[in-house]
Amino acid sequence: MTRRYPVTRLRRNRSDDATRRLVAENNVSPDDLIWPIFVTEGDEQTAIEGFHGVVRYPLKDLPSVAKQARQAGIPVLALFPDINLALRDDTASQATRPDNLICRAIACVKDREPDVLVMADVALDCYTNHGHDGLLRDGYVINDETIEVLVRQALVQAQAGADILGPSDMMDGRVGAIRQALDDQGLINTRIMAYSAKYASALYGPFRQAVGSSAHLVGDKKTYQLDPANSNEAVRAAAMDLDQGADMVMIKPGLLYLDILYRIKQELRVPTFAYHVSGEYAMLKAYGDDRLLLESLLAFKRAGADGILTYGALEAARQLGG
Ligand code: PBG
Repeated sequence: MTRRYPVTRLRRNRSDDATRRLVAENNVSPDDLIWPIFVTEGDEQTAIEGFHGVVRYPLKDLPSVAKQARQAGIPVLALFPDINLALRDDTASQATRPDNLICRAIACVKDREPDVLVMADVALDCYTNHGHDGLLRDGYVINDETIEVLVRQALVQAQAGADILGPSDMMDGRVGAIRQALDDQGLINTRIMAYSAKYASALYGPFRQAVGSSAHLVGDKKTYQLDPANSNEAVRAAAMDLDQGADMVMIKPGLLYLDILYRIKQELRVPTFAYHVSGEYAMLKAYGDDRLLLESLLAFKRAGADGILTYGALEAARQLGG
């Protein structure tokens, strides 16, 4: 077989749109998308500083949000609550209440749009008055005591109807504890998408504004989120989460960590997701060229992602004709 010019001309396969589509190695579909949605206790949509048009929705708007997702072909909504400040405390007591905002939001979507999957975060940052994902003792997030609260949080969310739980807290051993508790309650099909490789990144700013944790976050999350210097550790973390029963693993943030995504997919060969996080979305919007969204999503697919969480999910699905 010759690979020599001029017998071989690579530009032939780029001649027209139909040929390009025919030979395309990767593609993005609405089926690949998870749409993160912020929920507020109030009656009105509220704007989020620095988040380029992403808003918090009141509960009453969730049926229409879910309907838009279904009509656009987006299979999953990931819900995040902005809990009233007065309800946050050092034990994250709201997190484990079956009538809290996130549980009501989950039930609302499942009630009105049962075919749209709902994903819910398992972590305490939306519920603590210090903004950390776990319980603090002497300024340190304590692992095993936090897991006990996370397990109870996971159960109330699953019982409210969450289809997928996303432990994003980064405590050691939480996936196994959550899986065990779900199974003990007969919730054998509640899926776990583990935030396995979640880095201590500067890209979470608009998200922390959205859930109201940035104003009171004390210090940083470096004692539990991964060090951006490491990649072997990320593969190890994903493997450990799989051993504990994770159904899917996630890498977060997205575009700056495509090497991690690629390695995890290559080495572990399991359903692998990327979180195109709030700071990345803000950068993309600040740049302002609409074509960049689909190009970014394609980059995730090329690196090996089975799906992507992105604030641009609806926009992308619509651009794709969904
Ligand atoms: C909470 C959580 C965070 C994100 C998702 N779940 C923030 C954090 O870890 O501080 C970030 C998502 C984004 O920036 O879009 N544990």
